[in-house]
Amino acid sequence: MEIYILEDYDKMSKKAADVIKEQVIQKPNSILGLATGSTPEGMYKYLVEYYENNELDFKDVTTFNLDEYLGLDDLHEQSYHYFMDKHLLSKINVKKENIHIPDGLGIDIDNTCTKYDKAIESAGGIDLQILGIGLNGHIGFNEPGTFIAETHQVDLTNDTIMANSRFFENQEDVPKMAITMGMKSIMGAKKIILMASGSSKARAIKMSLEGPITPDVPASILQLHQNLIVIIDEEAGALLENK
Ligand code: PGA
Repeated sequence: MEIYILEDYDKMSKKAADVIKEQVIQKPNSILGLATGSTPEGMYKYLVEYYENNELDFKDVTTFNLDEYLGLDDLHEQSYHYFMDKHLLSKINVKKENIHIPDGLGIDIDNTCTKYDKAIESAGGIDLQILGIGLNGHIGFNEPGTFIAETHQVDLTNDTIMANSRFFENQEDVPKMAITMGMKSIMGAKKIILMASGSSKARAIKMSLEGPITPDVPASILQLHQNLIVIIDEEAGALLENK
């Protein structure tokens, strides 16, 4: 595990963007696993900047997002389709047909999930996966409880619903269910970046990286990954003993 503890959110965002930049320069047809949430927003800003400055070309890149709410249409401002379009995908030259985000509107969710895993597999697996972390240690929407290998439908925990209610007008508006990539595709990534910012994430980071590996803290499984890069700011790293 490589750990980078940067001074602040901006430096953390740039470091993560630089690792992605290096990846895409080394392998222009990289398969990137992407994440939503406040944590990667700054990183996406840097990626857009690199693209606009002709330092990066996404024309052969393929993307797979981690998750999507069930029941929000793509144009809903809180859907992850909308988020990705707004912060990255509409601003770079990635091809539409190379973008994959779980479809939270399908009728046959099991089939959607199976097809998603097959698509990742056919692409050859993920080269570089970006992960944020929930206050409860979730990655994607893999909530505490059990490690589930496949892409699956999930009931969001109250912790997650409360944490995400900051983006919605009322807590009742937060979807209660989602689709998330499972641990097999995440852990199968050749390289993983785990990002976290702010003191609210310090406990989750400590438990995930220095606590026991347990489904009660989903991100703790990352300790088993051979090529994990942790990129966090000082506040999120405050409780770590091994810095
Ligand atoms: P955040 O979400 O980046 O908005 O804090 C992270 C997560 O819940 O995985």
